[in-house]
Amino acid sequence: MLFFEKKCLITSSHLTFSCTAVNYIIMKDKIYHLIQRAVQAPDLLPEEWAELLALTDYELQKILHRSASDLRVKLCGDAVALRGLVEISNICTKNCYYCGIRRENFHIPRFELDLNEIVDTALLAQEFRYGSVVLQSGERTDTKFIDKISEAVSRIKKHSKNSLGITLSCGEQERAVYKEWFSAGAHRYLLRIETSNRKLYSQLHPANHDFDKRVECLHLLKECGYQLGTGIMCGLPGQTTLDIIRDIEFFADIDADMIGMGPYIVQQDTPLAKFSPDFESEKSARLDFALNMIAIVRLRLRDVNIAATTALHALAPDGRERGLQAGANVIMPNITPTRFRSGYQLYDGKPGLNENADSVRKALQESISSAGFRTIDDAWGDSRHFKNKNQ
Ligand code: 5AD
Ligand code: SF4
Repeated sequence: MLFFEKKCLITSSHLTFSCTAVNYIIMKDKIYHLIQRAVQAPDLLPEEWAELLALTDYELQKILHRSASDLRVKLCGDAVALRGLVEISNICTKNCYYCGIRRENFHIPRFELDLNEIVDTALLAQEFRYGSVVLQSGERTDTKFIDKISEAVSRIKKHSKNSLGITLSCGEQERAVYKEWFSAGAHRYLLRIETSNRKLYSQLHPANHDFDKRVECLHLLKECGYQLGTGIMCGLPGQTTLDIIRDIEFFADIDADMIGMGPYIVQQDTPLAKFSPDFESEKSARLDFALNMIAIVRLRLRDVNIAATTALHALAPDGRERGLQAGANVIMPNITPTRFRSGYQLYDGKPGLNENADSVRKALQESISSAGFRTIDDAWGDSRHFKNKNQ
């Protein structure tokens, strides 16, 4: 394409225009066929997936997102599963270089919901007819924490008469702990790999955060019977498009049931912040890239649950709805009591710090239907992939 343009440039400006236009049509046609192939079967070459992931042309992006969204409706239906997100505690023993609640961020006060607050908040999800909850916390492995999660899960199951589904997102644990929480009633678990590139992983984490341990935890979770959720952040310093394509292959190899991905967002008090000095001016491009990633995961992994995450919302007010239109099918509205929310800022500009859970419920219902989808009430919204493979 470049050659074609150069040749034209030394002739006439009129010809430049027409050749560039011809090139555009050829390129568009090629991309269009790539998307069609991906819809038919997920067997594109890594470089071909990477080409789709890197799309910046507005019209082509729309075709990519629309194709992924249509495929999700075909394979998973048009319903959006809602999960009430409860942020239990921002106390974390880990020190990831990108995260605002890392152990060595001394600028934030630490909080922890007590058992009754966790259970009452989760039961609020039932009142909102969300059908399931996600209990998320900074990582801790002490007995007090482990027992508290077990007890919270048991009580939520008991008080909701087993009508609430429970997803946990409480980090790396021993097999016995995962088993205990599963026996208590949790049935889905989210643990992002963050990046499947070992070298990049070691650049984003201190030396004692072991990549192999994280992979082992993903296997343990599957063995214990959980529906497995994993994911990455995109737009990390040092990350390439091919890294992300390999991440998606990693999701396929580990046979993930749910994917929670989002754009990396700078948190000024973290060591990684200095590597993205132009973050503010890049927000729109970063959102488009994250939407492309959702579309490609849908095309590659087909029937998994994909969350339109809060980080999309942090980049644009309609970020999550655009995530749905690019192939996602889950939204996790925050139902944490508002007095605790400011403490759980993994990144700067996290939205909804003061939003009342009741008004959010109504607004979400409307925005989801104006994006062309419907919500399902009182349903666990389990991964179709998990069901399909266990039939
Ligand atoms: N930007 C975006 N996502 C982040 N997370 C942590 N820090 C950031 C950040 N700065 C994500 C990680 C983690 C999840 C709970 O939050 O992917 O797994
Ligand atoms: Fe802790 Fe998770 Fe943040 Fe890492 S990403 S510091 S494990 S809360």
